[in-house]
Amino acid sequence: MAVTIDLKGKKAIVFGIANDKSIAWHIAKRLNDAGCRIAAAYQERVEQLFLPLMKELNNPVYAKCDVVSDDLLNSFFTLVKNEFENVDFLIHSIAFAKREHLQGKFMNVDRRGYQVAHEVSAYSLAEISRRTVPMMKNGGSIIAMTYLGSEKVAPGYNIMGVAKAALESSVRYLAYDLGEHQIRVNAISAGPIATMAASGIANFSEMLLNYVAKAPLKRNITADEVADCALFLCSDLSKAITGQVIFVDAGYNVMGI
Ligand SMILES: NC(=O)c1ccc[n+]([C@@H]2O[C@H](COP(=O)([O-])OP(=O)(O)OC[C@H]3O[C@@H](n4cnc5c(N)ncnc54)[C@H](O)[C@@H]3O)[C@@H](O)[C@H]2O)c1
Repeated sequence: MAVTIDLKGKKAIVFGIANDKSIAWHIAKRLNDAGCRIAAAYQERVEQLFLPLMKELNNPVYAKCDVVSDDLLNSFFTLVKNEFENVDFLIHSIAFAKREHLQGKFMNVDRRGYQVAHEVSAYSLAEISRRTVPMMKNGGSIIAMTYLGSEKVAPGYNIMGVAKAALESSVRYLAYDLGEHQIRVNAISAGPIATMAASGIANFSEMLLNYVAKAPLKRNITADEVADCALFLCSDLSKAITGQVIFVDAGYNVMGI
C-alpha cells in the first residue's frame, strides 16, 4: 500500500528555527512540502540566519518571539490568530541552559541556571500549548523535542537532562488535559545531531561516536529522520498515539551496556 501524507489546508506553529541545521527547520520544511502552512517564531539573535530560510516556504507567517517575554508571546500569537483561523499542529523545538551548566558536575548548577533551563526548555511547552489550543478547533497534534538524558545520565548534559524530564512529564499531563479535544501531545527523543544547541554540550562529539559504536543501527541519525517522525505524528496515521516519548535514535536507548 502506498501512503502519501497530504497536509493541504493544515496549519502549524513552529518554535525553534535558528538556522538550516535546526531540527525545527527540517520539520517545518517537511510539513511545508506536505502542503501545510507554517507560522514560525524566532529569536532576535538568530534573525540573520532565520529570515532567508522563510523564502523556501510557501506563504509563511513569522515574527520574533522569546518564550520568556509575555509581550513577544502576545504579539506572536496575535499575529497567528489574525492570519490563521485554525491551527492543527504545534512544534516545540527549543531549549536553553547556560553553557557553564552543560559541563562539569550537575550539582554546581545555581538557582537561576536551574530556573532558566526549566522556564525555556520545559515550562514553555505548557505556555505555548495554552495559547495555541483555542485555535485547534478540529483537534491537533503537539510535538516536543527531547533527549535520553532525561532518564539516564549523559555526563555533561546535566541540568538539561533534568529539564527534559520535566518536559516529558509535561507531555503526559498535557496529553491527558487535551485528549478530550482530540489534541494529541507527544515527544520525539532524538539521538545527537550537530546543531547550534548541541554545540553547547561539552561531550557532544564523544556522544556522536558512542552512538556509532553502540546503537543497534551502528550510526547516527539525521534531522530529516526526525522530521519524518514529526510528519507521521502530524498525520492521521498516528491518530491513536498520545502522551508518548518516541525514540528516533538508531535504537541506542535499548542498550544496557
Ligand atoms: N541536536 C541534538 O542533538 C538534539 C537531540 C535531542 C533533542 N534535541 C532538542 O531539539 C530541540 C531543538 O534543538 P536543535 O538541536 O535543533 O538546536 P537549535 O539551536 O537549532 O534550536 C534551538 C532553538 O531554541 C531556540 N530558543 C532558545 N531559547 C529560546 C527562548 N527563550 N525563546 C524562544 N526560542 C528559544 C533557539 O532560538 C533555537 O532556535 C531542543 O529542544 C533540543 O534540546 C536536540
